[in-house]
Amino acid sequence: MSEVMTQVPDVARLFAERALDACASYWERGATEMWLGQPLFRIAGTTHDQLVPDGVSNPYWEVIRQMPSTDERRWQGVTPYGYEPNLGIGRNGVVSTYSWSIPSPGDIAWITDVLAGRGVVEVGAGSGYWAWQLAQAGTDVVAYEPNEVADNKFVDVIEPYHPLLRGDASAAGKHPDRALFMSWPNYAEPWATHALTAYQGDLLIYVGETHGGCCGDDDFFDLLDAEWDEIGDSPHHRTWWGINCRLIAYRRKQSAAVQGGEGA
Ligand SMILES: C[S@@+](CC[C@H](N)C(=O)[O-])C[C@H]1O[C@@H](n2cnc3c(N)ncnc32)[C@H](O)[C@@H]1O
Repeated sequence: MSEVMTQVPDVARLFAERALDACASYWERGATEMWLGQPLFRIAGTTHDQLVPDGVSNPYWEVIRQMPSTDERRWQGVTPYGYEPNLGIGRNGVVSTYSWSIPSPGDIAWITDVLAGRGVVEVGAGSGYWAWQLAQAGTDVVAYEPNEVADNKFVDVIEPYHPLLRGDASAAGKHPDRALFMSWPNYAEPWATHALTAYQGDLLIYVGETHGGCCGDDDFFDLLDAEWDEIGDSPHHRTWWGINCRLIAYRRKQSAAVQGGEGA
């Protein structure tokens, strides 16, 4: 099992401090902003809150729970609003510092349950933030990313949060015994399809927008429909306002079993 970072890297820590200061000032000003007729509120301290377990670092979630949020059914309930002009931080800065989807503490616990002890292979890992969160929960994660973090236009950190192996989507084919994890494959690009085609195992955990959204390509979702069954989605997942992100587990259909594959 690879080494798990226990300290928050400097960039993430400094960003979180700045973001938390911005949120504190926002609430101190007695913010009364509404969005589409709904008052903005912070998740922290409400019934929607999720607490980071003792001994775990999840600066992304610590920022999210302090941000102005709305409660809208179309985004699966409470959702941080990433475009508040009076806040001073927004979705773009947050996602490039951490991850394109939000790993809440409940999400990580939900994934751990689905895995039932199995390891994970992640492809397109970006900054390695999800891999870091899973590793802190005790999951053995092998994470691949074709670009160095410093050269990755989707990422704004200088060091990854978790060790990243250099490799593209085809690396999924090397680990049939692990569950495949993917977060936010690039819109209209084929690499999620390539990963799923290369992968010989039977468990996929996917987080991102679904068919018709801004992740992956149509072939990916067609392949999922044809060869995979959705076995559940995380009820704890929080998505940015306006972003239809879901965290979903899929099992390969028996009829689509890989000939000669090890499975798990
Ligand atoms: C939108 S970012 C998402 C990053 C990360 N998974 C997250 O959720 O924050 C897409 C990532 O896919 C990576 N990528 C691009 N082409 C790829 C390929 N052929 N195989 C695997 N990953 C690829 C990019 O370098 C980038 O890190």
